[in-house]
Amino acid sequence: MTDLRTVPLLVFGPYNEDGLAGLRDVFDVRQIERRDIALVPESDRPAIRAIAMAGHLPNEAMDLLPNLEIIGHFGVGYDGVDAAHAASRGVAVTNTPDVLTEEVADTALALVLMTVRDLVRAEHHARSGEWERSGPYPLTPLSLRGRRLGIMGLGRIGLAIAKRAESFGLAIDYHNRTQRTDVPYRYHESLLELAAAVDILLVAAPGGAGTERAVNAAVLSALGPKGVFVNIGRGSSVDEPALIEALETGAIAAAGLDVFADEPRIPERLRALSNTVLLPHVASASRDTRIAMGSLVTENLKRWFGGEALTSPVPESEKAGLVRRREAVR
Ligand code: DGY
Repeated sequence: MTDLRTVPLLVFGPYNEDGLAGLRDVFDVRQIERRDIALVPESDRPAIRAIAMAGHLPNEAMDLLPNLEIIGHFGVGYDGVDAAHAASRGVAVTNTPDVLTEEVADTALALVLMTVRDLVRAEHHARSGEWERSGPYPLTPLSLRGRRLGIMGLGRIGLAIAKRAESFGLAIDYHNRTQRTDVPYRYHESLLELAAAVDILLVAAPGGAGTERAVNAAVLSALGPKGVFVNIGRGSSVDEPALIEALETGAIAAAGLDVFADEPRIPERLRALSNTVLLPHVASASRDTRIAMGSLVTENLKRWFGGEALTSPVPESEKAGLVRRREAVR
């Protein structure tokens, strides 16, 4: 049986506590408190063979670790890691798909409802005593009844959202790079076309260069003054200043956002708007789901050093054949 306590693993910055405990049970863990490679003494760098991390890993940090073999990313969206650069160096990357799909889809539907039915401010109306003082909460101009939901990014999470939305009686449209042959939903070749056809535009795409600022002023204007925008994917997929402008001028009706361009900073203008629901990137953030994500990171790393096939390598690693270590560590 391989003993992996001899394998030095760098936890690159803040990391889920349960996941950290799981890693410590298996590896020789060294953690730095910030995502800054300067915190790893030069003399220790050649020893590091694996990284576990969430968020952003600069290429320069990767390049300063000459014996790095694998990066276990805590999260399904790995836009913070340049997996192609890692592959060019022979470094494998894994992420955490599937285990968070249902949790994120649950949160997405909650965010849709909170935004469309103005439920955050309605809750405040009840809690603050305003109901008793000044009467019922105003009727909401928006409703889910008879509406059409447009999903940008019909992958695993997008599909789980679509299934839930169907049971809410919503018609579903979507836009992907390529049309799926296994769904009954209406496909649009462009995001602009999708936005023009639906009442609620929801981004479930994982981010990255292909979708950078894809939701721009033209897309928001196509969504229109009764349109609602919801984002549980990545803030980078949206032109945030254009979104703020559209919300301020009434070019769209409302937005529900779990992700932002520069987290945890949220622009003051966005926070000041009453037609927004803002969440602090919590779509997958239940303890159960985060434990499952941490276990999957550890499982991938264990399998790598045990010479077994990775459970969830990212496509860039798969393409480069980085799915299994040639031999187990002894
Ligand atoms: C993910 O897994 O990508 C979620 O956004 C949590 O970071």
